[in-house]
Amino acid sequence: MNRFKEVLENKELKQTWLTEQLCKSYIMVNDYVQNRKQPRLEASYRIAEILEVNVKELLKVKLMYKEKTDDENLHLVEEPQLDIFNPDKFLEKDSNELLNFVNEYYTRFEKTNPIKVINRSQFNTPVNFKQAKTRPIHRWYTYKEGFSPFFVRKFIERFKTSNQNIVFDPFGGIGTTVVESALMGFNAYSNDVNPLSNFIAKIKAENYEESDLIDLENEKKVITKYSFKNKNNPPENETVASYFTEVTLDSILRVQSYIDTIQNEKVKNLTFIALLTILESISTHRKDGNGVKRKKNFKGDFNLNQIVELLVSQIDLFIYDIKNTNFKKSSTILSQSSFEQYKLPQKADIVITSPPYANCFDYSKVYLVELWFGGFFKNKIDQKLFRESSIISHVHYKWNVRHQGFGHSLINNEIYDYLNTLNLWDKKIPKMLIGYFNDIGKVLFELSKNLNKEATVGFVVGNSVYGGVPIATDILLAEIGINLGYNLVGIESYRTLTSSSQQQKKIREQDKKFLRESLVILRWK
Ligand SMILES: C[S@@+](CC[C@H](N)C(=O)[O-])C[C@H]1O[C@@H](n2cnc3c(N)ncnc32)[C@H](O)[C@@H]1O
Repeated sequence: MNRFKEVLENKELKQTWLTEQLCKSYIMVNDYVQNRKQPRLEASYRIAEILEVNVKELLKVKLMYKEKTDDENLHLVEEPQLDIFNPDKFLEKDSNELLNFVNEYYTRFEKTNPIKVINRSQFNTPVNFKQAKTRPIHRWYTYKEGFSPFFVRKFIERFKTSNQNIVFDPFGGIGTTVVESALMGFNAYSNDVNPLSNFIAKIKAENYEESDLIDLENEKKVITKYSFKNKNNPPENETVASYFTEVTLDSILRVQSYIDTIQNEKVKNLTFIALLTILESISTHRKDGNGVKRKKNFKGDFNLNQIVELLVSQIDLFIYDIKNTNFKKSSTILSQSSFEQYKLPQKADIVITSPPYANCFDYSKVYLVELWFGGFFKNKIDQKLFRESSIISHVHYKWNVRHQGFGHSLINNEIYDYLNTLNLWDKKIPKMLIGYFNDIGKVLFELSKNLNKEATVGFVVGNSVYGGVPIATDILLAEIGINLGYNLVGIESYRTLTSSSQQQKKIREQDKKFLRESLVILRWK
């Protein structure tokens, strides 16, 4: 027995509120409140924390009334079993219990669905962008966790059923999938919520006419002789502006003002991308992990001439690539969130994609400079909107509970409850994980409505670890897919992952094998 109902009433709190805080279903919370079911011990701690009461108060199990003969008042007597709530004792005992449970869960899955390990000599990791840096068009912009074009090509070749197949990437990024598809002769679509990557993908996938190339060549000549009298305003984010020296910032704003005057829209966009591409090289900061870091041996100021020189060499590369590229089919870049309802112009036969991993990486932070200087963010609300429409994969934003029922019960119950008892580096992590798998489930659901029969779907994902608990995203995603009506073709592991040294210490030897980057292949029935 518990005292949830009483405590909620005393604090004038509603069950729905508690449900939201816990990320559990209303039915389950109602079962607790009505004392039909009892939460596990870790969950009791979590609930006590949310309700701001001592766990003993919350679980002051059935109070017994004992009449004292020498006293007219009733005397309350607590049941003695509460001694077991010694957190230290309980955690030590429970951590192995939970970790064994999770390990057995994954192992059971792998027994019936063995993970195929892809040899490194056969294949580089699918999200190694290195190869893209040497390939025409792909090399225009480097993107975190961007696909290897070679991997995309191989996947399409392996699973195509006809030359008319439609390819789709629901997390399209800077368009590696659509560009490679168009080169191979497949029409392709891509969804993304990052306005910067969508813009880049669009420019890369564009069809350029001879006249555009002539205009671009002319523009190159104009820019080298231009006076740059006018100047744009700096972005309304002082931190971002401070990542450039005064001289460099001034030059950037003058070049920006010039780009705004270019008449040919395609040429204007290409020149603009050229500027976005060089921003990091002329900044005092560079991208690092989940943000930016001051450069050590930075050269200093970049004046107008130097910036124009960099810009022109970038434009030369664009001209060369456009001249030497032959898109056999076209691509469409859609700025849609893949967990919302959407309808592709044509249903897809091949899906190859890679969502953000549940690794706390925040695209809106790492690309902050380009997003602000590109005018994609004009105020803080734009950043908020971007995060809101992104897959829940980090802890820099407080998302509302959404897509309940699409996630995975192992995360929603055992792993969530357990992680909440730990002192993780961020309290939001357990909730983030629930949100992540809810979102992924919703994506698979919306995707299924846009698939032709027998369509093959490939998701490249990276597993993670929190508080020593391996989060096998590949297995969990596969199970969510199976639940939604997909068949599992198989899981292929491309790389073993190492976690941060702190996490590495916490993870048990027998659980390390679950840390990998893999491709989950599903088939729509
Ligand atoms: C790993 S990257 C994909 C990179 C891509 N494979 C490429 O080669 O450019 C993941 C992408 O998912 C996007 N994303 C996050 N949430 C999304 C959502 N709800 N709908 C569509 N895209 C989303 C991010 O903006 C990011 O561009």
